[in-house]
Amino acid sequence: MATPRQKLNTKEHKNKHKVSEAQIAVHWKEEGYYRPPKKFIAQANLADPTFVKKFSEKRFPECFDNYASLLDWDKPWRKTLDASNPPFWKWFVGGKLNVCYNCVDRNLAKYKNKAALIFVPEPEGEAMTVITYQELYKRVNEVAAMLRDFAALKTGDRVTIHMPMIPELPITMLACARLGVVHSVVFGGFSGEACGLRAADSGSRVLIYADGYHRNGKWVDHKASADIAVQTAKKEGQEVDRVLVWKRYPGKYTSESPMIMGRDYFVDDVLKDYRGQTVQPVSQDAEAPLFLMYTSGTTGKPKGCQHRTGGYLAYVTGTAKYYQDIHPEDVYWCMADIGWITGHSYIVYGPLALAATSVLYEGVPQFPDAGRPWRIAERLDVNIFHTSPTAIRMLRKAGADEPKKYNYHFKHMTTVGEPIEPDVWRWYYDVVGKREAVIVDTWWQTETGGFLCSTKPALDPMKPGSAGPPVLGIYPVIWDENGEEVPAGSNKAGNICIRNPWPGIMQTIWGDPQRFVTQYYKKYNKNPRSKDWRDWPYYAADGAVLPADGYYRILGRVDDVINVAGHRLGTKEVESACLTLPEVAEAAVVPAVDEVKGRVPVVYISLKPGVLPNKAVQDKVTVTIETIIGKIARPKNIHVVPDMPKTRSGKIMRRVLAAISNRMDTGDITTLANPDIVEQIRVLVQGRDIGPLQEGPEDIKRFGQEP
Ligand code: WTA
Repeated sequence: MATPRQKLNTKEHKNKHKVSEAQIAVHWKEEGYYRPPKKFIAQANLADPTFVKKFSEKRFPECFDNYASLLDWDKPWRKTLDASNPPFWKWFVGGKLNVCYNCVDRNLAKYKNKAALIFVPEPEGEAMTVITYQELYKRVNEVAAMLRDFAALKTGDRVTIHMPMIPELPITMLACARLGVVHSVVFGGFSGEACGLRAADSGSRVLIYADGYHRNGKWVDHKASADIAVQTAKKEGQEVDRVLVWKRYPGKYTSESPMIMGRDYFVDDVLKDYRGQTVQPVSQDAEAPLFLMYTSGTTGKPKGCQHRTGGYLAYVTGTAKYYQDIHPEDVYWCMADIGWITGHSYIVYGPLALAATSVLYEGVPQFPDAGRPWRIAERLDVNIFHTSPTAIRMLRKAGADEPKKYNYHFKHMTTVGEPIEPDVWRWYYDVVGKREAVIVDTWWQTETGGFLCSTKPALDPMKPGSAGPPVLGIYPVIWDENGEEVPAGSNKAGNICIRNPWPGIMQTIWGDPQRFVTQYYKKYNKNPRSKDWRDWPYYAADGAVLPADGYYRILGRVDDVINVAGHRLGTKEVESACLTLPEVAEAAVVPAVDEVKGRVPVVYISLKPGVLPNKAVQDKVTVTIETIIGKIARPKNIHVVPDMPKTRSGKIMRRVLAAISNRMDTGDITTLANPDIVEQIRVLVQGRDIGPLQEGPEDIKRFGQEP
């Protein structure tokens, strides 16, 4: 079935470069609705429409007490929201609680012998590991004792964790939370340098690693990157004095990298001294920071999104309960990596606070073949499944009929991280879900802690390709560049913002509160001195359209971030990496459409005088990007160009390069300082033939636009 395409009408097409991009009309074929299955509704956590009324706008902010009351508090909060110092909100003021207690200890009374985590190794012949709540309790306590007494970590200290998808990762996170130590988990696939930079920014003197892991049939020697991380942190002025190394196979060290005496310690050796020890969970202020999660933004340096204890846990627990429909009896599998926000909120904290059984899979979905996820689902009787459009596209491409061969039954499925094409959605629904499962398309961000838009699974019909209405207590608005509201049903795209604060929103950017204000709140704030939260809408940097039915359709990033396979990549970060090479004079990174990964980065470089274009330079660019950032940033193409298209003031016109890489109309180039270069670059990239131009998706049309 053909994907419904957005089409501009001819008049607007002609005027395309006269109107602001935010005002460009978006015409797309409306999709039909799908009703939630009756069987799902009969058991859903959120099936009572009157519950929704508790979150009406006039009940803000106390509506969120409904989420906070899902937790066990050591001391109740006095005030739901203190908004006296916008945009630095305080949630559940005066309340005290411990996150680890809420995710582990409190589940012991009823569920101590129930699986908390089921670890599925990538090698299919290797046995799965089940960790009950009782065992999780024991292991987390021992690790907490070790972190406190051996690594000398105290409440409020930061620790950087660079680990793959093994159970010791959530165990370490929970041990930190027990002590009030702020964890900063760096995605395992990031390079040692990327980890070192983050460790330095957060001021971590302890790094926690694993020796290695399986990925796509290969063994990854991960400890090697610890040494690079320590060196990088040192260059940035941060001394790392302890590296704690978990072994993927206890008792067997599997890395080639030597252990440095006095700095590196094997966790399994050290833990022997802490056998059976318990640590009292530290009663934390609701506003104490729980963790940092670094993400890409508009400048070269990744920023540490700082999440709070009480508001965050309340928000992810509430949304996991009502939108993921998690009951303690369910077997829940989110295929994301814990190193991303999805894993923090919806593999670890939300599900465990609800006493779920959360499945952890080490490897890639299509290893050894595209039937693997469905075999895991069949074996464990997974009934809630959570993944990204990229994984769905990949699994469809590699084995469109595979799901039919396996006897599993999902009641609920999630898609997250990127816009999903309606025909991909339908395959997910028809084939993966066997038309028995409800689907939620959840739109949110690292910064937002939890979901912002999603259908209520038992109450709202689904619409392929649309995230749907805002979730409980969230009040969005779409504005154009001039701050005019883009009304529902107008068929125009604009910038989606959230009018009100909510408990899951990050507290600040670690060490850079000013940037927090400018990045997320400045754009639509009319009065920087205002003390009224209504003047401080959150700017998400996503484009969106709102049809008359109130179902938001997210179009993608409107800043310099590109969404590669559901992962955020800052184009400025990639450009900075290219510029570290002595041969490179200028670099520009733009997104290109990819049928599986959504978007992929394409690199344009120009060389310094005297350097001749050659394959070796291109290879060096790839290696450099992989070393500084990681394999996820590997470019699809590297084009060496004689010069960059530039404005008269010398600014690189990235939108022109993006248009060329996607065979789109390059638009008005007459104002360039060097308009002739455009055709030269086009021929270099596309060849001599001028094929038909593509319409191109909204995010690429808007990429690199001058305001
Ligand atoms: C995009 C991931 C369309 C969006 C949770 C956002 C989506 C960015 C969706 C955040 C969705 C996330 N539909 N686009 N359902 N969910 N996005 O911080 O552009 O890794 O700004 O958080 O992913 O990515 P992040």
